[in-house]
Parts: sequence; C-alpha cells; structure tokens
Amino acid sequence: MGGNFMGMPVAYRRRCPGSVSPAHYKENNLLRILVIGDIIGRAGRQVLAKLLSSLKTQYQVDLCIANVENVAGGIGITPVLARELLLQGVDVLTSGNHIWDKKEIESYAYTEKRLLRPANYPPGAPGGGGYLARLADGQSVGVVNLAGRVFMQPLDCPFRAAKSEVGKLKEYTSVILVDFHAEATSEKVAMGWYLDGLVSAVVGTHTHVQTADERILPKGTAYITDIGMTGPTDSVIGIQKELALQRFLTQMPVKFEPAKGSPQLNGVVIEVDPASGKAGSIQRLRVSPPTGKVAAQ
Ligand SMILES: [Fe+2]
Ligand SMILES: [Fe+2]
Repeated sequence: MGGNFMGMPVAYRRRCPGSVSPAHYKENNLLRILVIGDIIGRAGRQVLAKLLSSLKTQYQVDLCIANVENVAGGIGITPVLARELLLQGVDVLTSGNHIWDKKEIESYAYTEKRLLRPANYPPGAPGGGGYLARLADGQSVGVVNLAGRVFMQPLDCPFRAAKSEVGKLKEYTSVILVDFHAEATSEKVAMGWYLDGLVSAVVGTHTHVQTADERILPKGTAYITDIGMTGPTDSVIGIQKELALQRFLTQMPVKFEPAKGSPQLNGVVIEVDPASGKAGSIQRLRVSPPTGKVAAQ
C-alpha cells in the first residue's frame, strides 16, 4: 500500500495546504479522489467555478465529490444548482441536514442518483445514501453519505447504516469513501475507527471549519474530522458575521444570509490503491482564488 516517500511512510506525507507539487501525483497509479467541503451560497459556487478545473488537473483527480447542502443561499440545494455543479465537473454530490430545505429537491433526489442524502434517513425518505461511480477507465468508486445524531436531528443509527451501505458497495468495488456529516468530533472519530479497514476514507463535513487531524488509520482508512467549507471565510461558518453576532447577543430570531468575503475552497485529496481499497495518503487543501476576490453575491 502506497510505498514510501523520502524514507517516510506514505501515510505521513503532509505538506502545507495547497502546496503539493503536481509532479508527485504522477509517480504512482493510485486513484486520486478530491473531496470538497460544504459549498456555501453564491460565494462558494463562484470560488468553486474558478478553481475546480485547475485543481482537477493539478492533482490528476479521478473522482470529484462535493458536499452541496448549503449551495442555495446557504441552506439546501435546488435541481438547477445541482445540474450546474455536475456540469462543472463534480461527479458526486453529498449533503447533510440541510438537504430538504428547498422543497423542489425532493422529486429530483428520486431521479438523480449522483445526489446523495444521508443513508440513515428513515425508510421513505426520497433518494439514496450510496452511489457507485464509474470512472472513465472502467474502475468504480463507492460513495456513502451519513449524518450524525449527536447535537443533530435524531435519524436512524449512522453506524448500522454505514455497515449496510458499505456491504452493498463492496460487491462492486474495494474503493469506498464515506462523507460523515456530523457535529460532534467524538461521533466522527468513532466512525473512523468503526470503518477502519472496511472503507478507503471517512471524511467529516458539517462544522465548516477544517481540522488538522488527517491521518491514515492502522488498517488503511484515510480519516479527517472535518474537511472545512468552500465559501466566505470572513463569516461565522459561512453566515454574515453581523447577523450571527446579533443572534448570539440578543437570543432573538435573526434571518441568516450567507456572507461574501474572502472566499476559499477547502477539501482533501485522497490517494487510494484501487486493488486493496487502502488509502495511501490524505492531504488537506485550503485554496483561495488567484485574485483573492470573487464577485459579490
Ligand atoms: Fe454545511
Ligand atoms: Fe450541515
């Protein structure tokens, strides 16, 4: 699995976010999966549009997954925006607790299998939580979306749902990535251990702040508690800071609006051995557009 890099186990290859030499990524035949953190509103969509193509080229990406639960004005996603992201080159759309905020997405989720909602929604919810992506060269990658239950909506058990979805995908591929959309660090860490050796990667989303705990677990699963958000960093996790502060200071209802300032793309690039399904490396990305500015919403 993976090999070595300058005498260091491949699992410990870490560099400054966004600073990887493209040349390194041509040295092996591992699959490269780009996972992009929660895309927030127009600012997030615009920074994605500016960076996605060049990132896919730079990192020789085989599959691109993005969490899209905040794409439409900060809450939810519409069919129009889902189609736009798929056309831009995102291969699989994952989501979370905001998936149903736009009513029109319910019927779309029945028909567009590349849009996932957490697999542990109770039976009867539209859509599905697992997807088998076919790559251009004929290889397959399984993607599973789950949501946590700690400090969140009381869905079905994400651990049992994970085993069920992973079991189904294992019939077709060894390469499986899990987006665990959860609030509590402990629940995410527990999921990493629960799935270590069963899947290629467990990446966390939902808190919108990237964590620096990426690692390869002992049985070969790449793990990170949260990959961060793709959106305005001059904000309170994507929301205009003045509005968030107003709610904290007054405890009164305040209508939230997505912020605009200092947009950044957050995510990870994970390398996976397609034969074994084990991860070779995981690297965090935090990338700002070249100009440092994106048009205002
Ligand atoms: Fe989110
Ligand atoms: Fe969320």
